[in-house]
Amino acid sequence: MKNKKKVLKNKKILLGVAGGVAAYKSVDLVRRLKDEGASVNVIMTDAAKNFVTPLSLEIASENRVCSGVFDDPMSHINLPREADIMLIAPATANIIGKFANGIADDLLSTCFLSFKGKVVVAPSMNWRMYDNPIFQENLRRLTAHGVIQSGPDKGTLACGEEGIGRMADVSEIIETIKSAFSKKDFFKKKVIVTAGPTREYLDPVRFLSNRSSGKMGYAVARACIRRGAEVILISGPSCLEQPHGLKSFFRVETAQEMRDAMFKCLTETDVVIMAAAPADFSPEKKEKAKIEKSGKLSVNFKNTPDILSEAGKLKKKPLLVGFAAETGGRLDRAKKKLIQKNADIIVFNNVTAVGSGFDVDTNEITIIRKNKELSLPLMTKAAAAEAILDAVSDGMKKHAKSRRVESQD
Ligand SMILES: Cc1cc2nc3c(=O)[nH]c(=O)nc-3n(C[C@H](O)[C@H](O)[C@H](O)COP(=O)(O)O)c2cc1C
Repeated sequence: MKNKKKVLKNKKILLGVAGGVAAYKSVDLVRRLKDEGASVNVIMTDAAKNFVTPLSLEIASENRVCSGVFDDPMSHINLPREADIMLIAPATANIIGKFANGIADDLLSTCFLSFKGKVVVAPSMNWRMYDNPIFQENLRRLTAHGVIQSGPDKGTLACGEEGIGRMADVSEIIETIKSAFSKKDFFKKKVIVTAGPTREYLDPVRFLSNRSSGKMGYAVARACIRRGAEVILISGPSCLEQPHGLKSFFRVETAQEMRDAMFKCLTETDVVIMAAAPADFSPEKKEKAKIEKSGKLSVNFKNTPDILSEAGKLKKKPLLVGFAAETGGRLDRAKKKLIQKNADIIVFNNVTAVGSGFDVDTNEITIIRKNKELSLPLMTKAAAAEAILDAVSDGMKKHAKSRRVESQD
């Protein structure tokens, strides 16, 4: 793969691990951050060493783990100076209290005070501690100073009780870090993303579908959230994890349901990105009972709603991005689609090319606009999503202008 652009590539992360039960998860966190291309330096509090060994974190990070403020007299200045971001996971009630009150009595809290960049905390504790008004005041104080909070989640806690206080999933923490590094050119923009396949039923148990996994649409939704958008994701059947930070999520099955969900949400929407692969045909009739096995079965099909065309005819049309999944290099058909459907952008991909299209983590796309065409090499769907959003961001400025002119007419 030629383009391996990753949001965290070459980023230097200073990870603080404090003494909570979730500290064991920090080993996985370090590995996943390194998989994303980041380098990680770890600071452990003394309490953290009761939950995870420095050796485990040293092996995972491939860096010496620091702990004492006097072990290396300049580490409280040098470590933060060299870092691009500071992450504390798990963040105990104690360390949040120290940060919020300017206490610097160990290496981690001293580094926090001398660090000039963005800080992410992932609180983790029993719900009784989390609910404590003094703790809440400390947390509010930190976020009011720009510290970014990731989690905590609700669920079963280490003590066996149910409640809020579980450290956010490692994937959610990584998304928060990526978001901290992302530009916010979609701030407060309302974006609808469609993803995945649809199912068109023959009878209650059989349906016609396609090979779409939803990976491209989910990657687009994630990138929109990172860049500050309020995102509604309308997804056909997919086993992918819901992106964190969505405004709403709709699970649909048929193309008609996808169309209805989308048009219900359209008011005040700035951008619609249709990465879904809704079926083009649906059986004319859905049998109420399972069709008996017999000799020959013939089925008549009708066309499903053409969602992109319908959206293209709206008077107050949002910026429209359609996808053209073609078998073969049918760029001409994708270009026609742009005009015929009155879309602003068509993302063309040849689903039969190696590493491209359905159910893989990579894609090779061409972004087609009225007077521009950008062919990109094979890249991760996350990177392809960023490239699509760059084109949308550019188009948004022109689109807003033309909508203003229209409303004055
Ligand atoms: C078994 C055990 C589990 C603990 N789990 C947590 C926890 O999940 N979150 C928390 O805020 N404190 C937890 N504590 C309390 C902290 O370890 C304690 O407040 C400590 O002083 C934190 O130090 P540090 O913030 O410097 O790491 C736990 C204590 C024990 C003994």
